[in-house]
Amino acid sequence: MAKPKRRYICQACGSVTHRWQGQCPDCGEWNTLAEEAPTTVFSAKHDLSSGGRPIAFEALDAPGEVLKRKSTGLAEFDRALGGGLVPGSAVLMGGDPGIGKSTLLLQAAAKIAQGGGSAVYISGEEAAGQVRLRADRLGLAGAPISLAAATSVRDILTTLSAMTPPALLVIDSIQTMHSDQIEGAPGTVSQVRASAFELIRYAKENGVALVLVGHVTKDGSIAGPRVLEHMVDVVMSFEGERSHQYRILRCIKNRFGPVDEIGVFAMEGQGLAEVGNPSMLFLSGRDTPVAGSAVFPAIEGTRPVLIEVQALIVRLASGATPRRAVVGWDSGRLAMLLAVLEARCGLNFSSAEVYLNIAGGYRLADPAADLAVAAALISALADKPLASDAVWFGEVSLAGEIRPVAHAAIRLREAAKLGFRRGFGPAEAGGDENFTALTLLPNLVDRIMGGA
Ligand code: TYD
Ligand code: MG
Repeated sequence: MAKPKRRYICQACGSVTHRWQGQCPDCGEWNTLAEEAPTTVFSAKHDLSSGGRPIAFEALDAPGEVLKRKSTGLAEFDRALGGGLVPGSAVLMGGDPGIGKSTLLLQAAAKIAQGGGSAVYISGEEAAGQVRLRADRLGLAGAPISLAAATSVRDILTTLSAMTPPALLVIDSIQTMHSDQIEGAPGTVSQVRASAFELIRYAKENGVALVLVGHVTKDGSIAGPRVLEHMVDVVMSFEGERSHQYRILRCIKNRFGPVDEIGVFAMEGQGLAEVGNPSMLFLSGRDTPVAGSAVFPAIEGTRPVLIEVQALIVRLASGATPRRAVVGWDSGRLAMLLAVLEARCGLNFSSAEVYLNIAGGYRLADPAADLAVAAALISALADKPLASDAVWFGEVSLAGEIRPVAHAAIRLREAAKLGFRRGFGPAEAGGDENFTALTLLPNLVDRIMGGA
């Protein structure tokens, strides 16, 4: 028999090579290749002479079961899920360490248990005593959750199959789980994949809503579990700055609903509190206007949220390379916007350090924020505060045009409700006499330099 070939699997992206290398040839990460035991090699050619059974085809409109969602007891969690947990589905919950994943899931499990459903919480990271202490602190010690500290998938599934399947099964975290079907340490790609596969199969067969917690790498992707993203039905990410109070629960993939709704929570002494009306959260106290601050009316799913964009420009005397630092926005997008401002409007940022911050630990991804960022940058460069009652939105093209974005009317309406009387945005947005249409970036520069 031929000697099985050595296999090296990238722990970041799951790609397989047969030679050790310092850098993964697929995703470019360094030091992520680890040797893992070879699995059975399948023959590429099918032998169809025996063993196969015919499968039955079904019509797309055949009557099937209706999607029944179960509330998690936390309205913001339900909202991000698109209405609640679907029995027999698997959710992968990613997030930085310490962001509050365990707290959120413990609270959801407690709510479900208090509402008469059964919830099983398996912790592979903390001892049962630690989870109990946390529950105590959250005022949930009385909730009838089935709690256990375990890491062996075989033990967990043996226990679960001897009892009535729970409504909710939380596995905290999938990187600590170990399946004896496969060699390798917990947390390696093949272990994570095998453990998740067994747990997901149990969930699907028994109509259990399964939530797997997954850790996140430095660059923000769900580590190892990136290979899980296609195995689960829903991928969620719990975000926020640890030093800030607010946490945002986002859906990245959802087989049962839209992915544009967010859930907003505040981390308090008593655990995570739901924030039902987040529109004003991400504005700093705005008593005296400062240069470099612009308000962007964002839309998260169906809810508008006003967000403050802050820019700071520091002129450098010498020829040192200036820094560009961004928190909460894409640094590539900032570089592009600076280039457009230089090329189309003749502004000079090349000898200045540029700092951009989205207030409150929020992360902006909507291209409609371009205009607000541009306004903040120009205001900081000119050292002229923007009107404190104005909001800015619109996408900026490389040619320096200001392009229309979705939901202009809703953005303006919400801003008006909260006392922002003026709106600046692309021409197609329409609006009333308080709205100023801007078509080209140089218009924006003239307006701000002239004191908008
Ligand atoms: P945790 O849920 O353990 O995070 P994760 O599972 O994502 O790693 O949350 C830990 C942080 O939350 C911890 O640093 C302190 C904070 N926290 C509070 O502020 N209030 C609370 O009531 C709890 C339980 C945690
Ligand atoms: Mg945790």
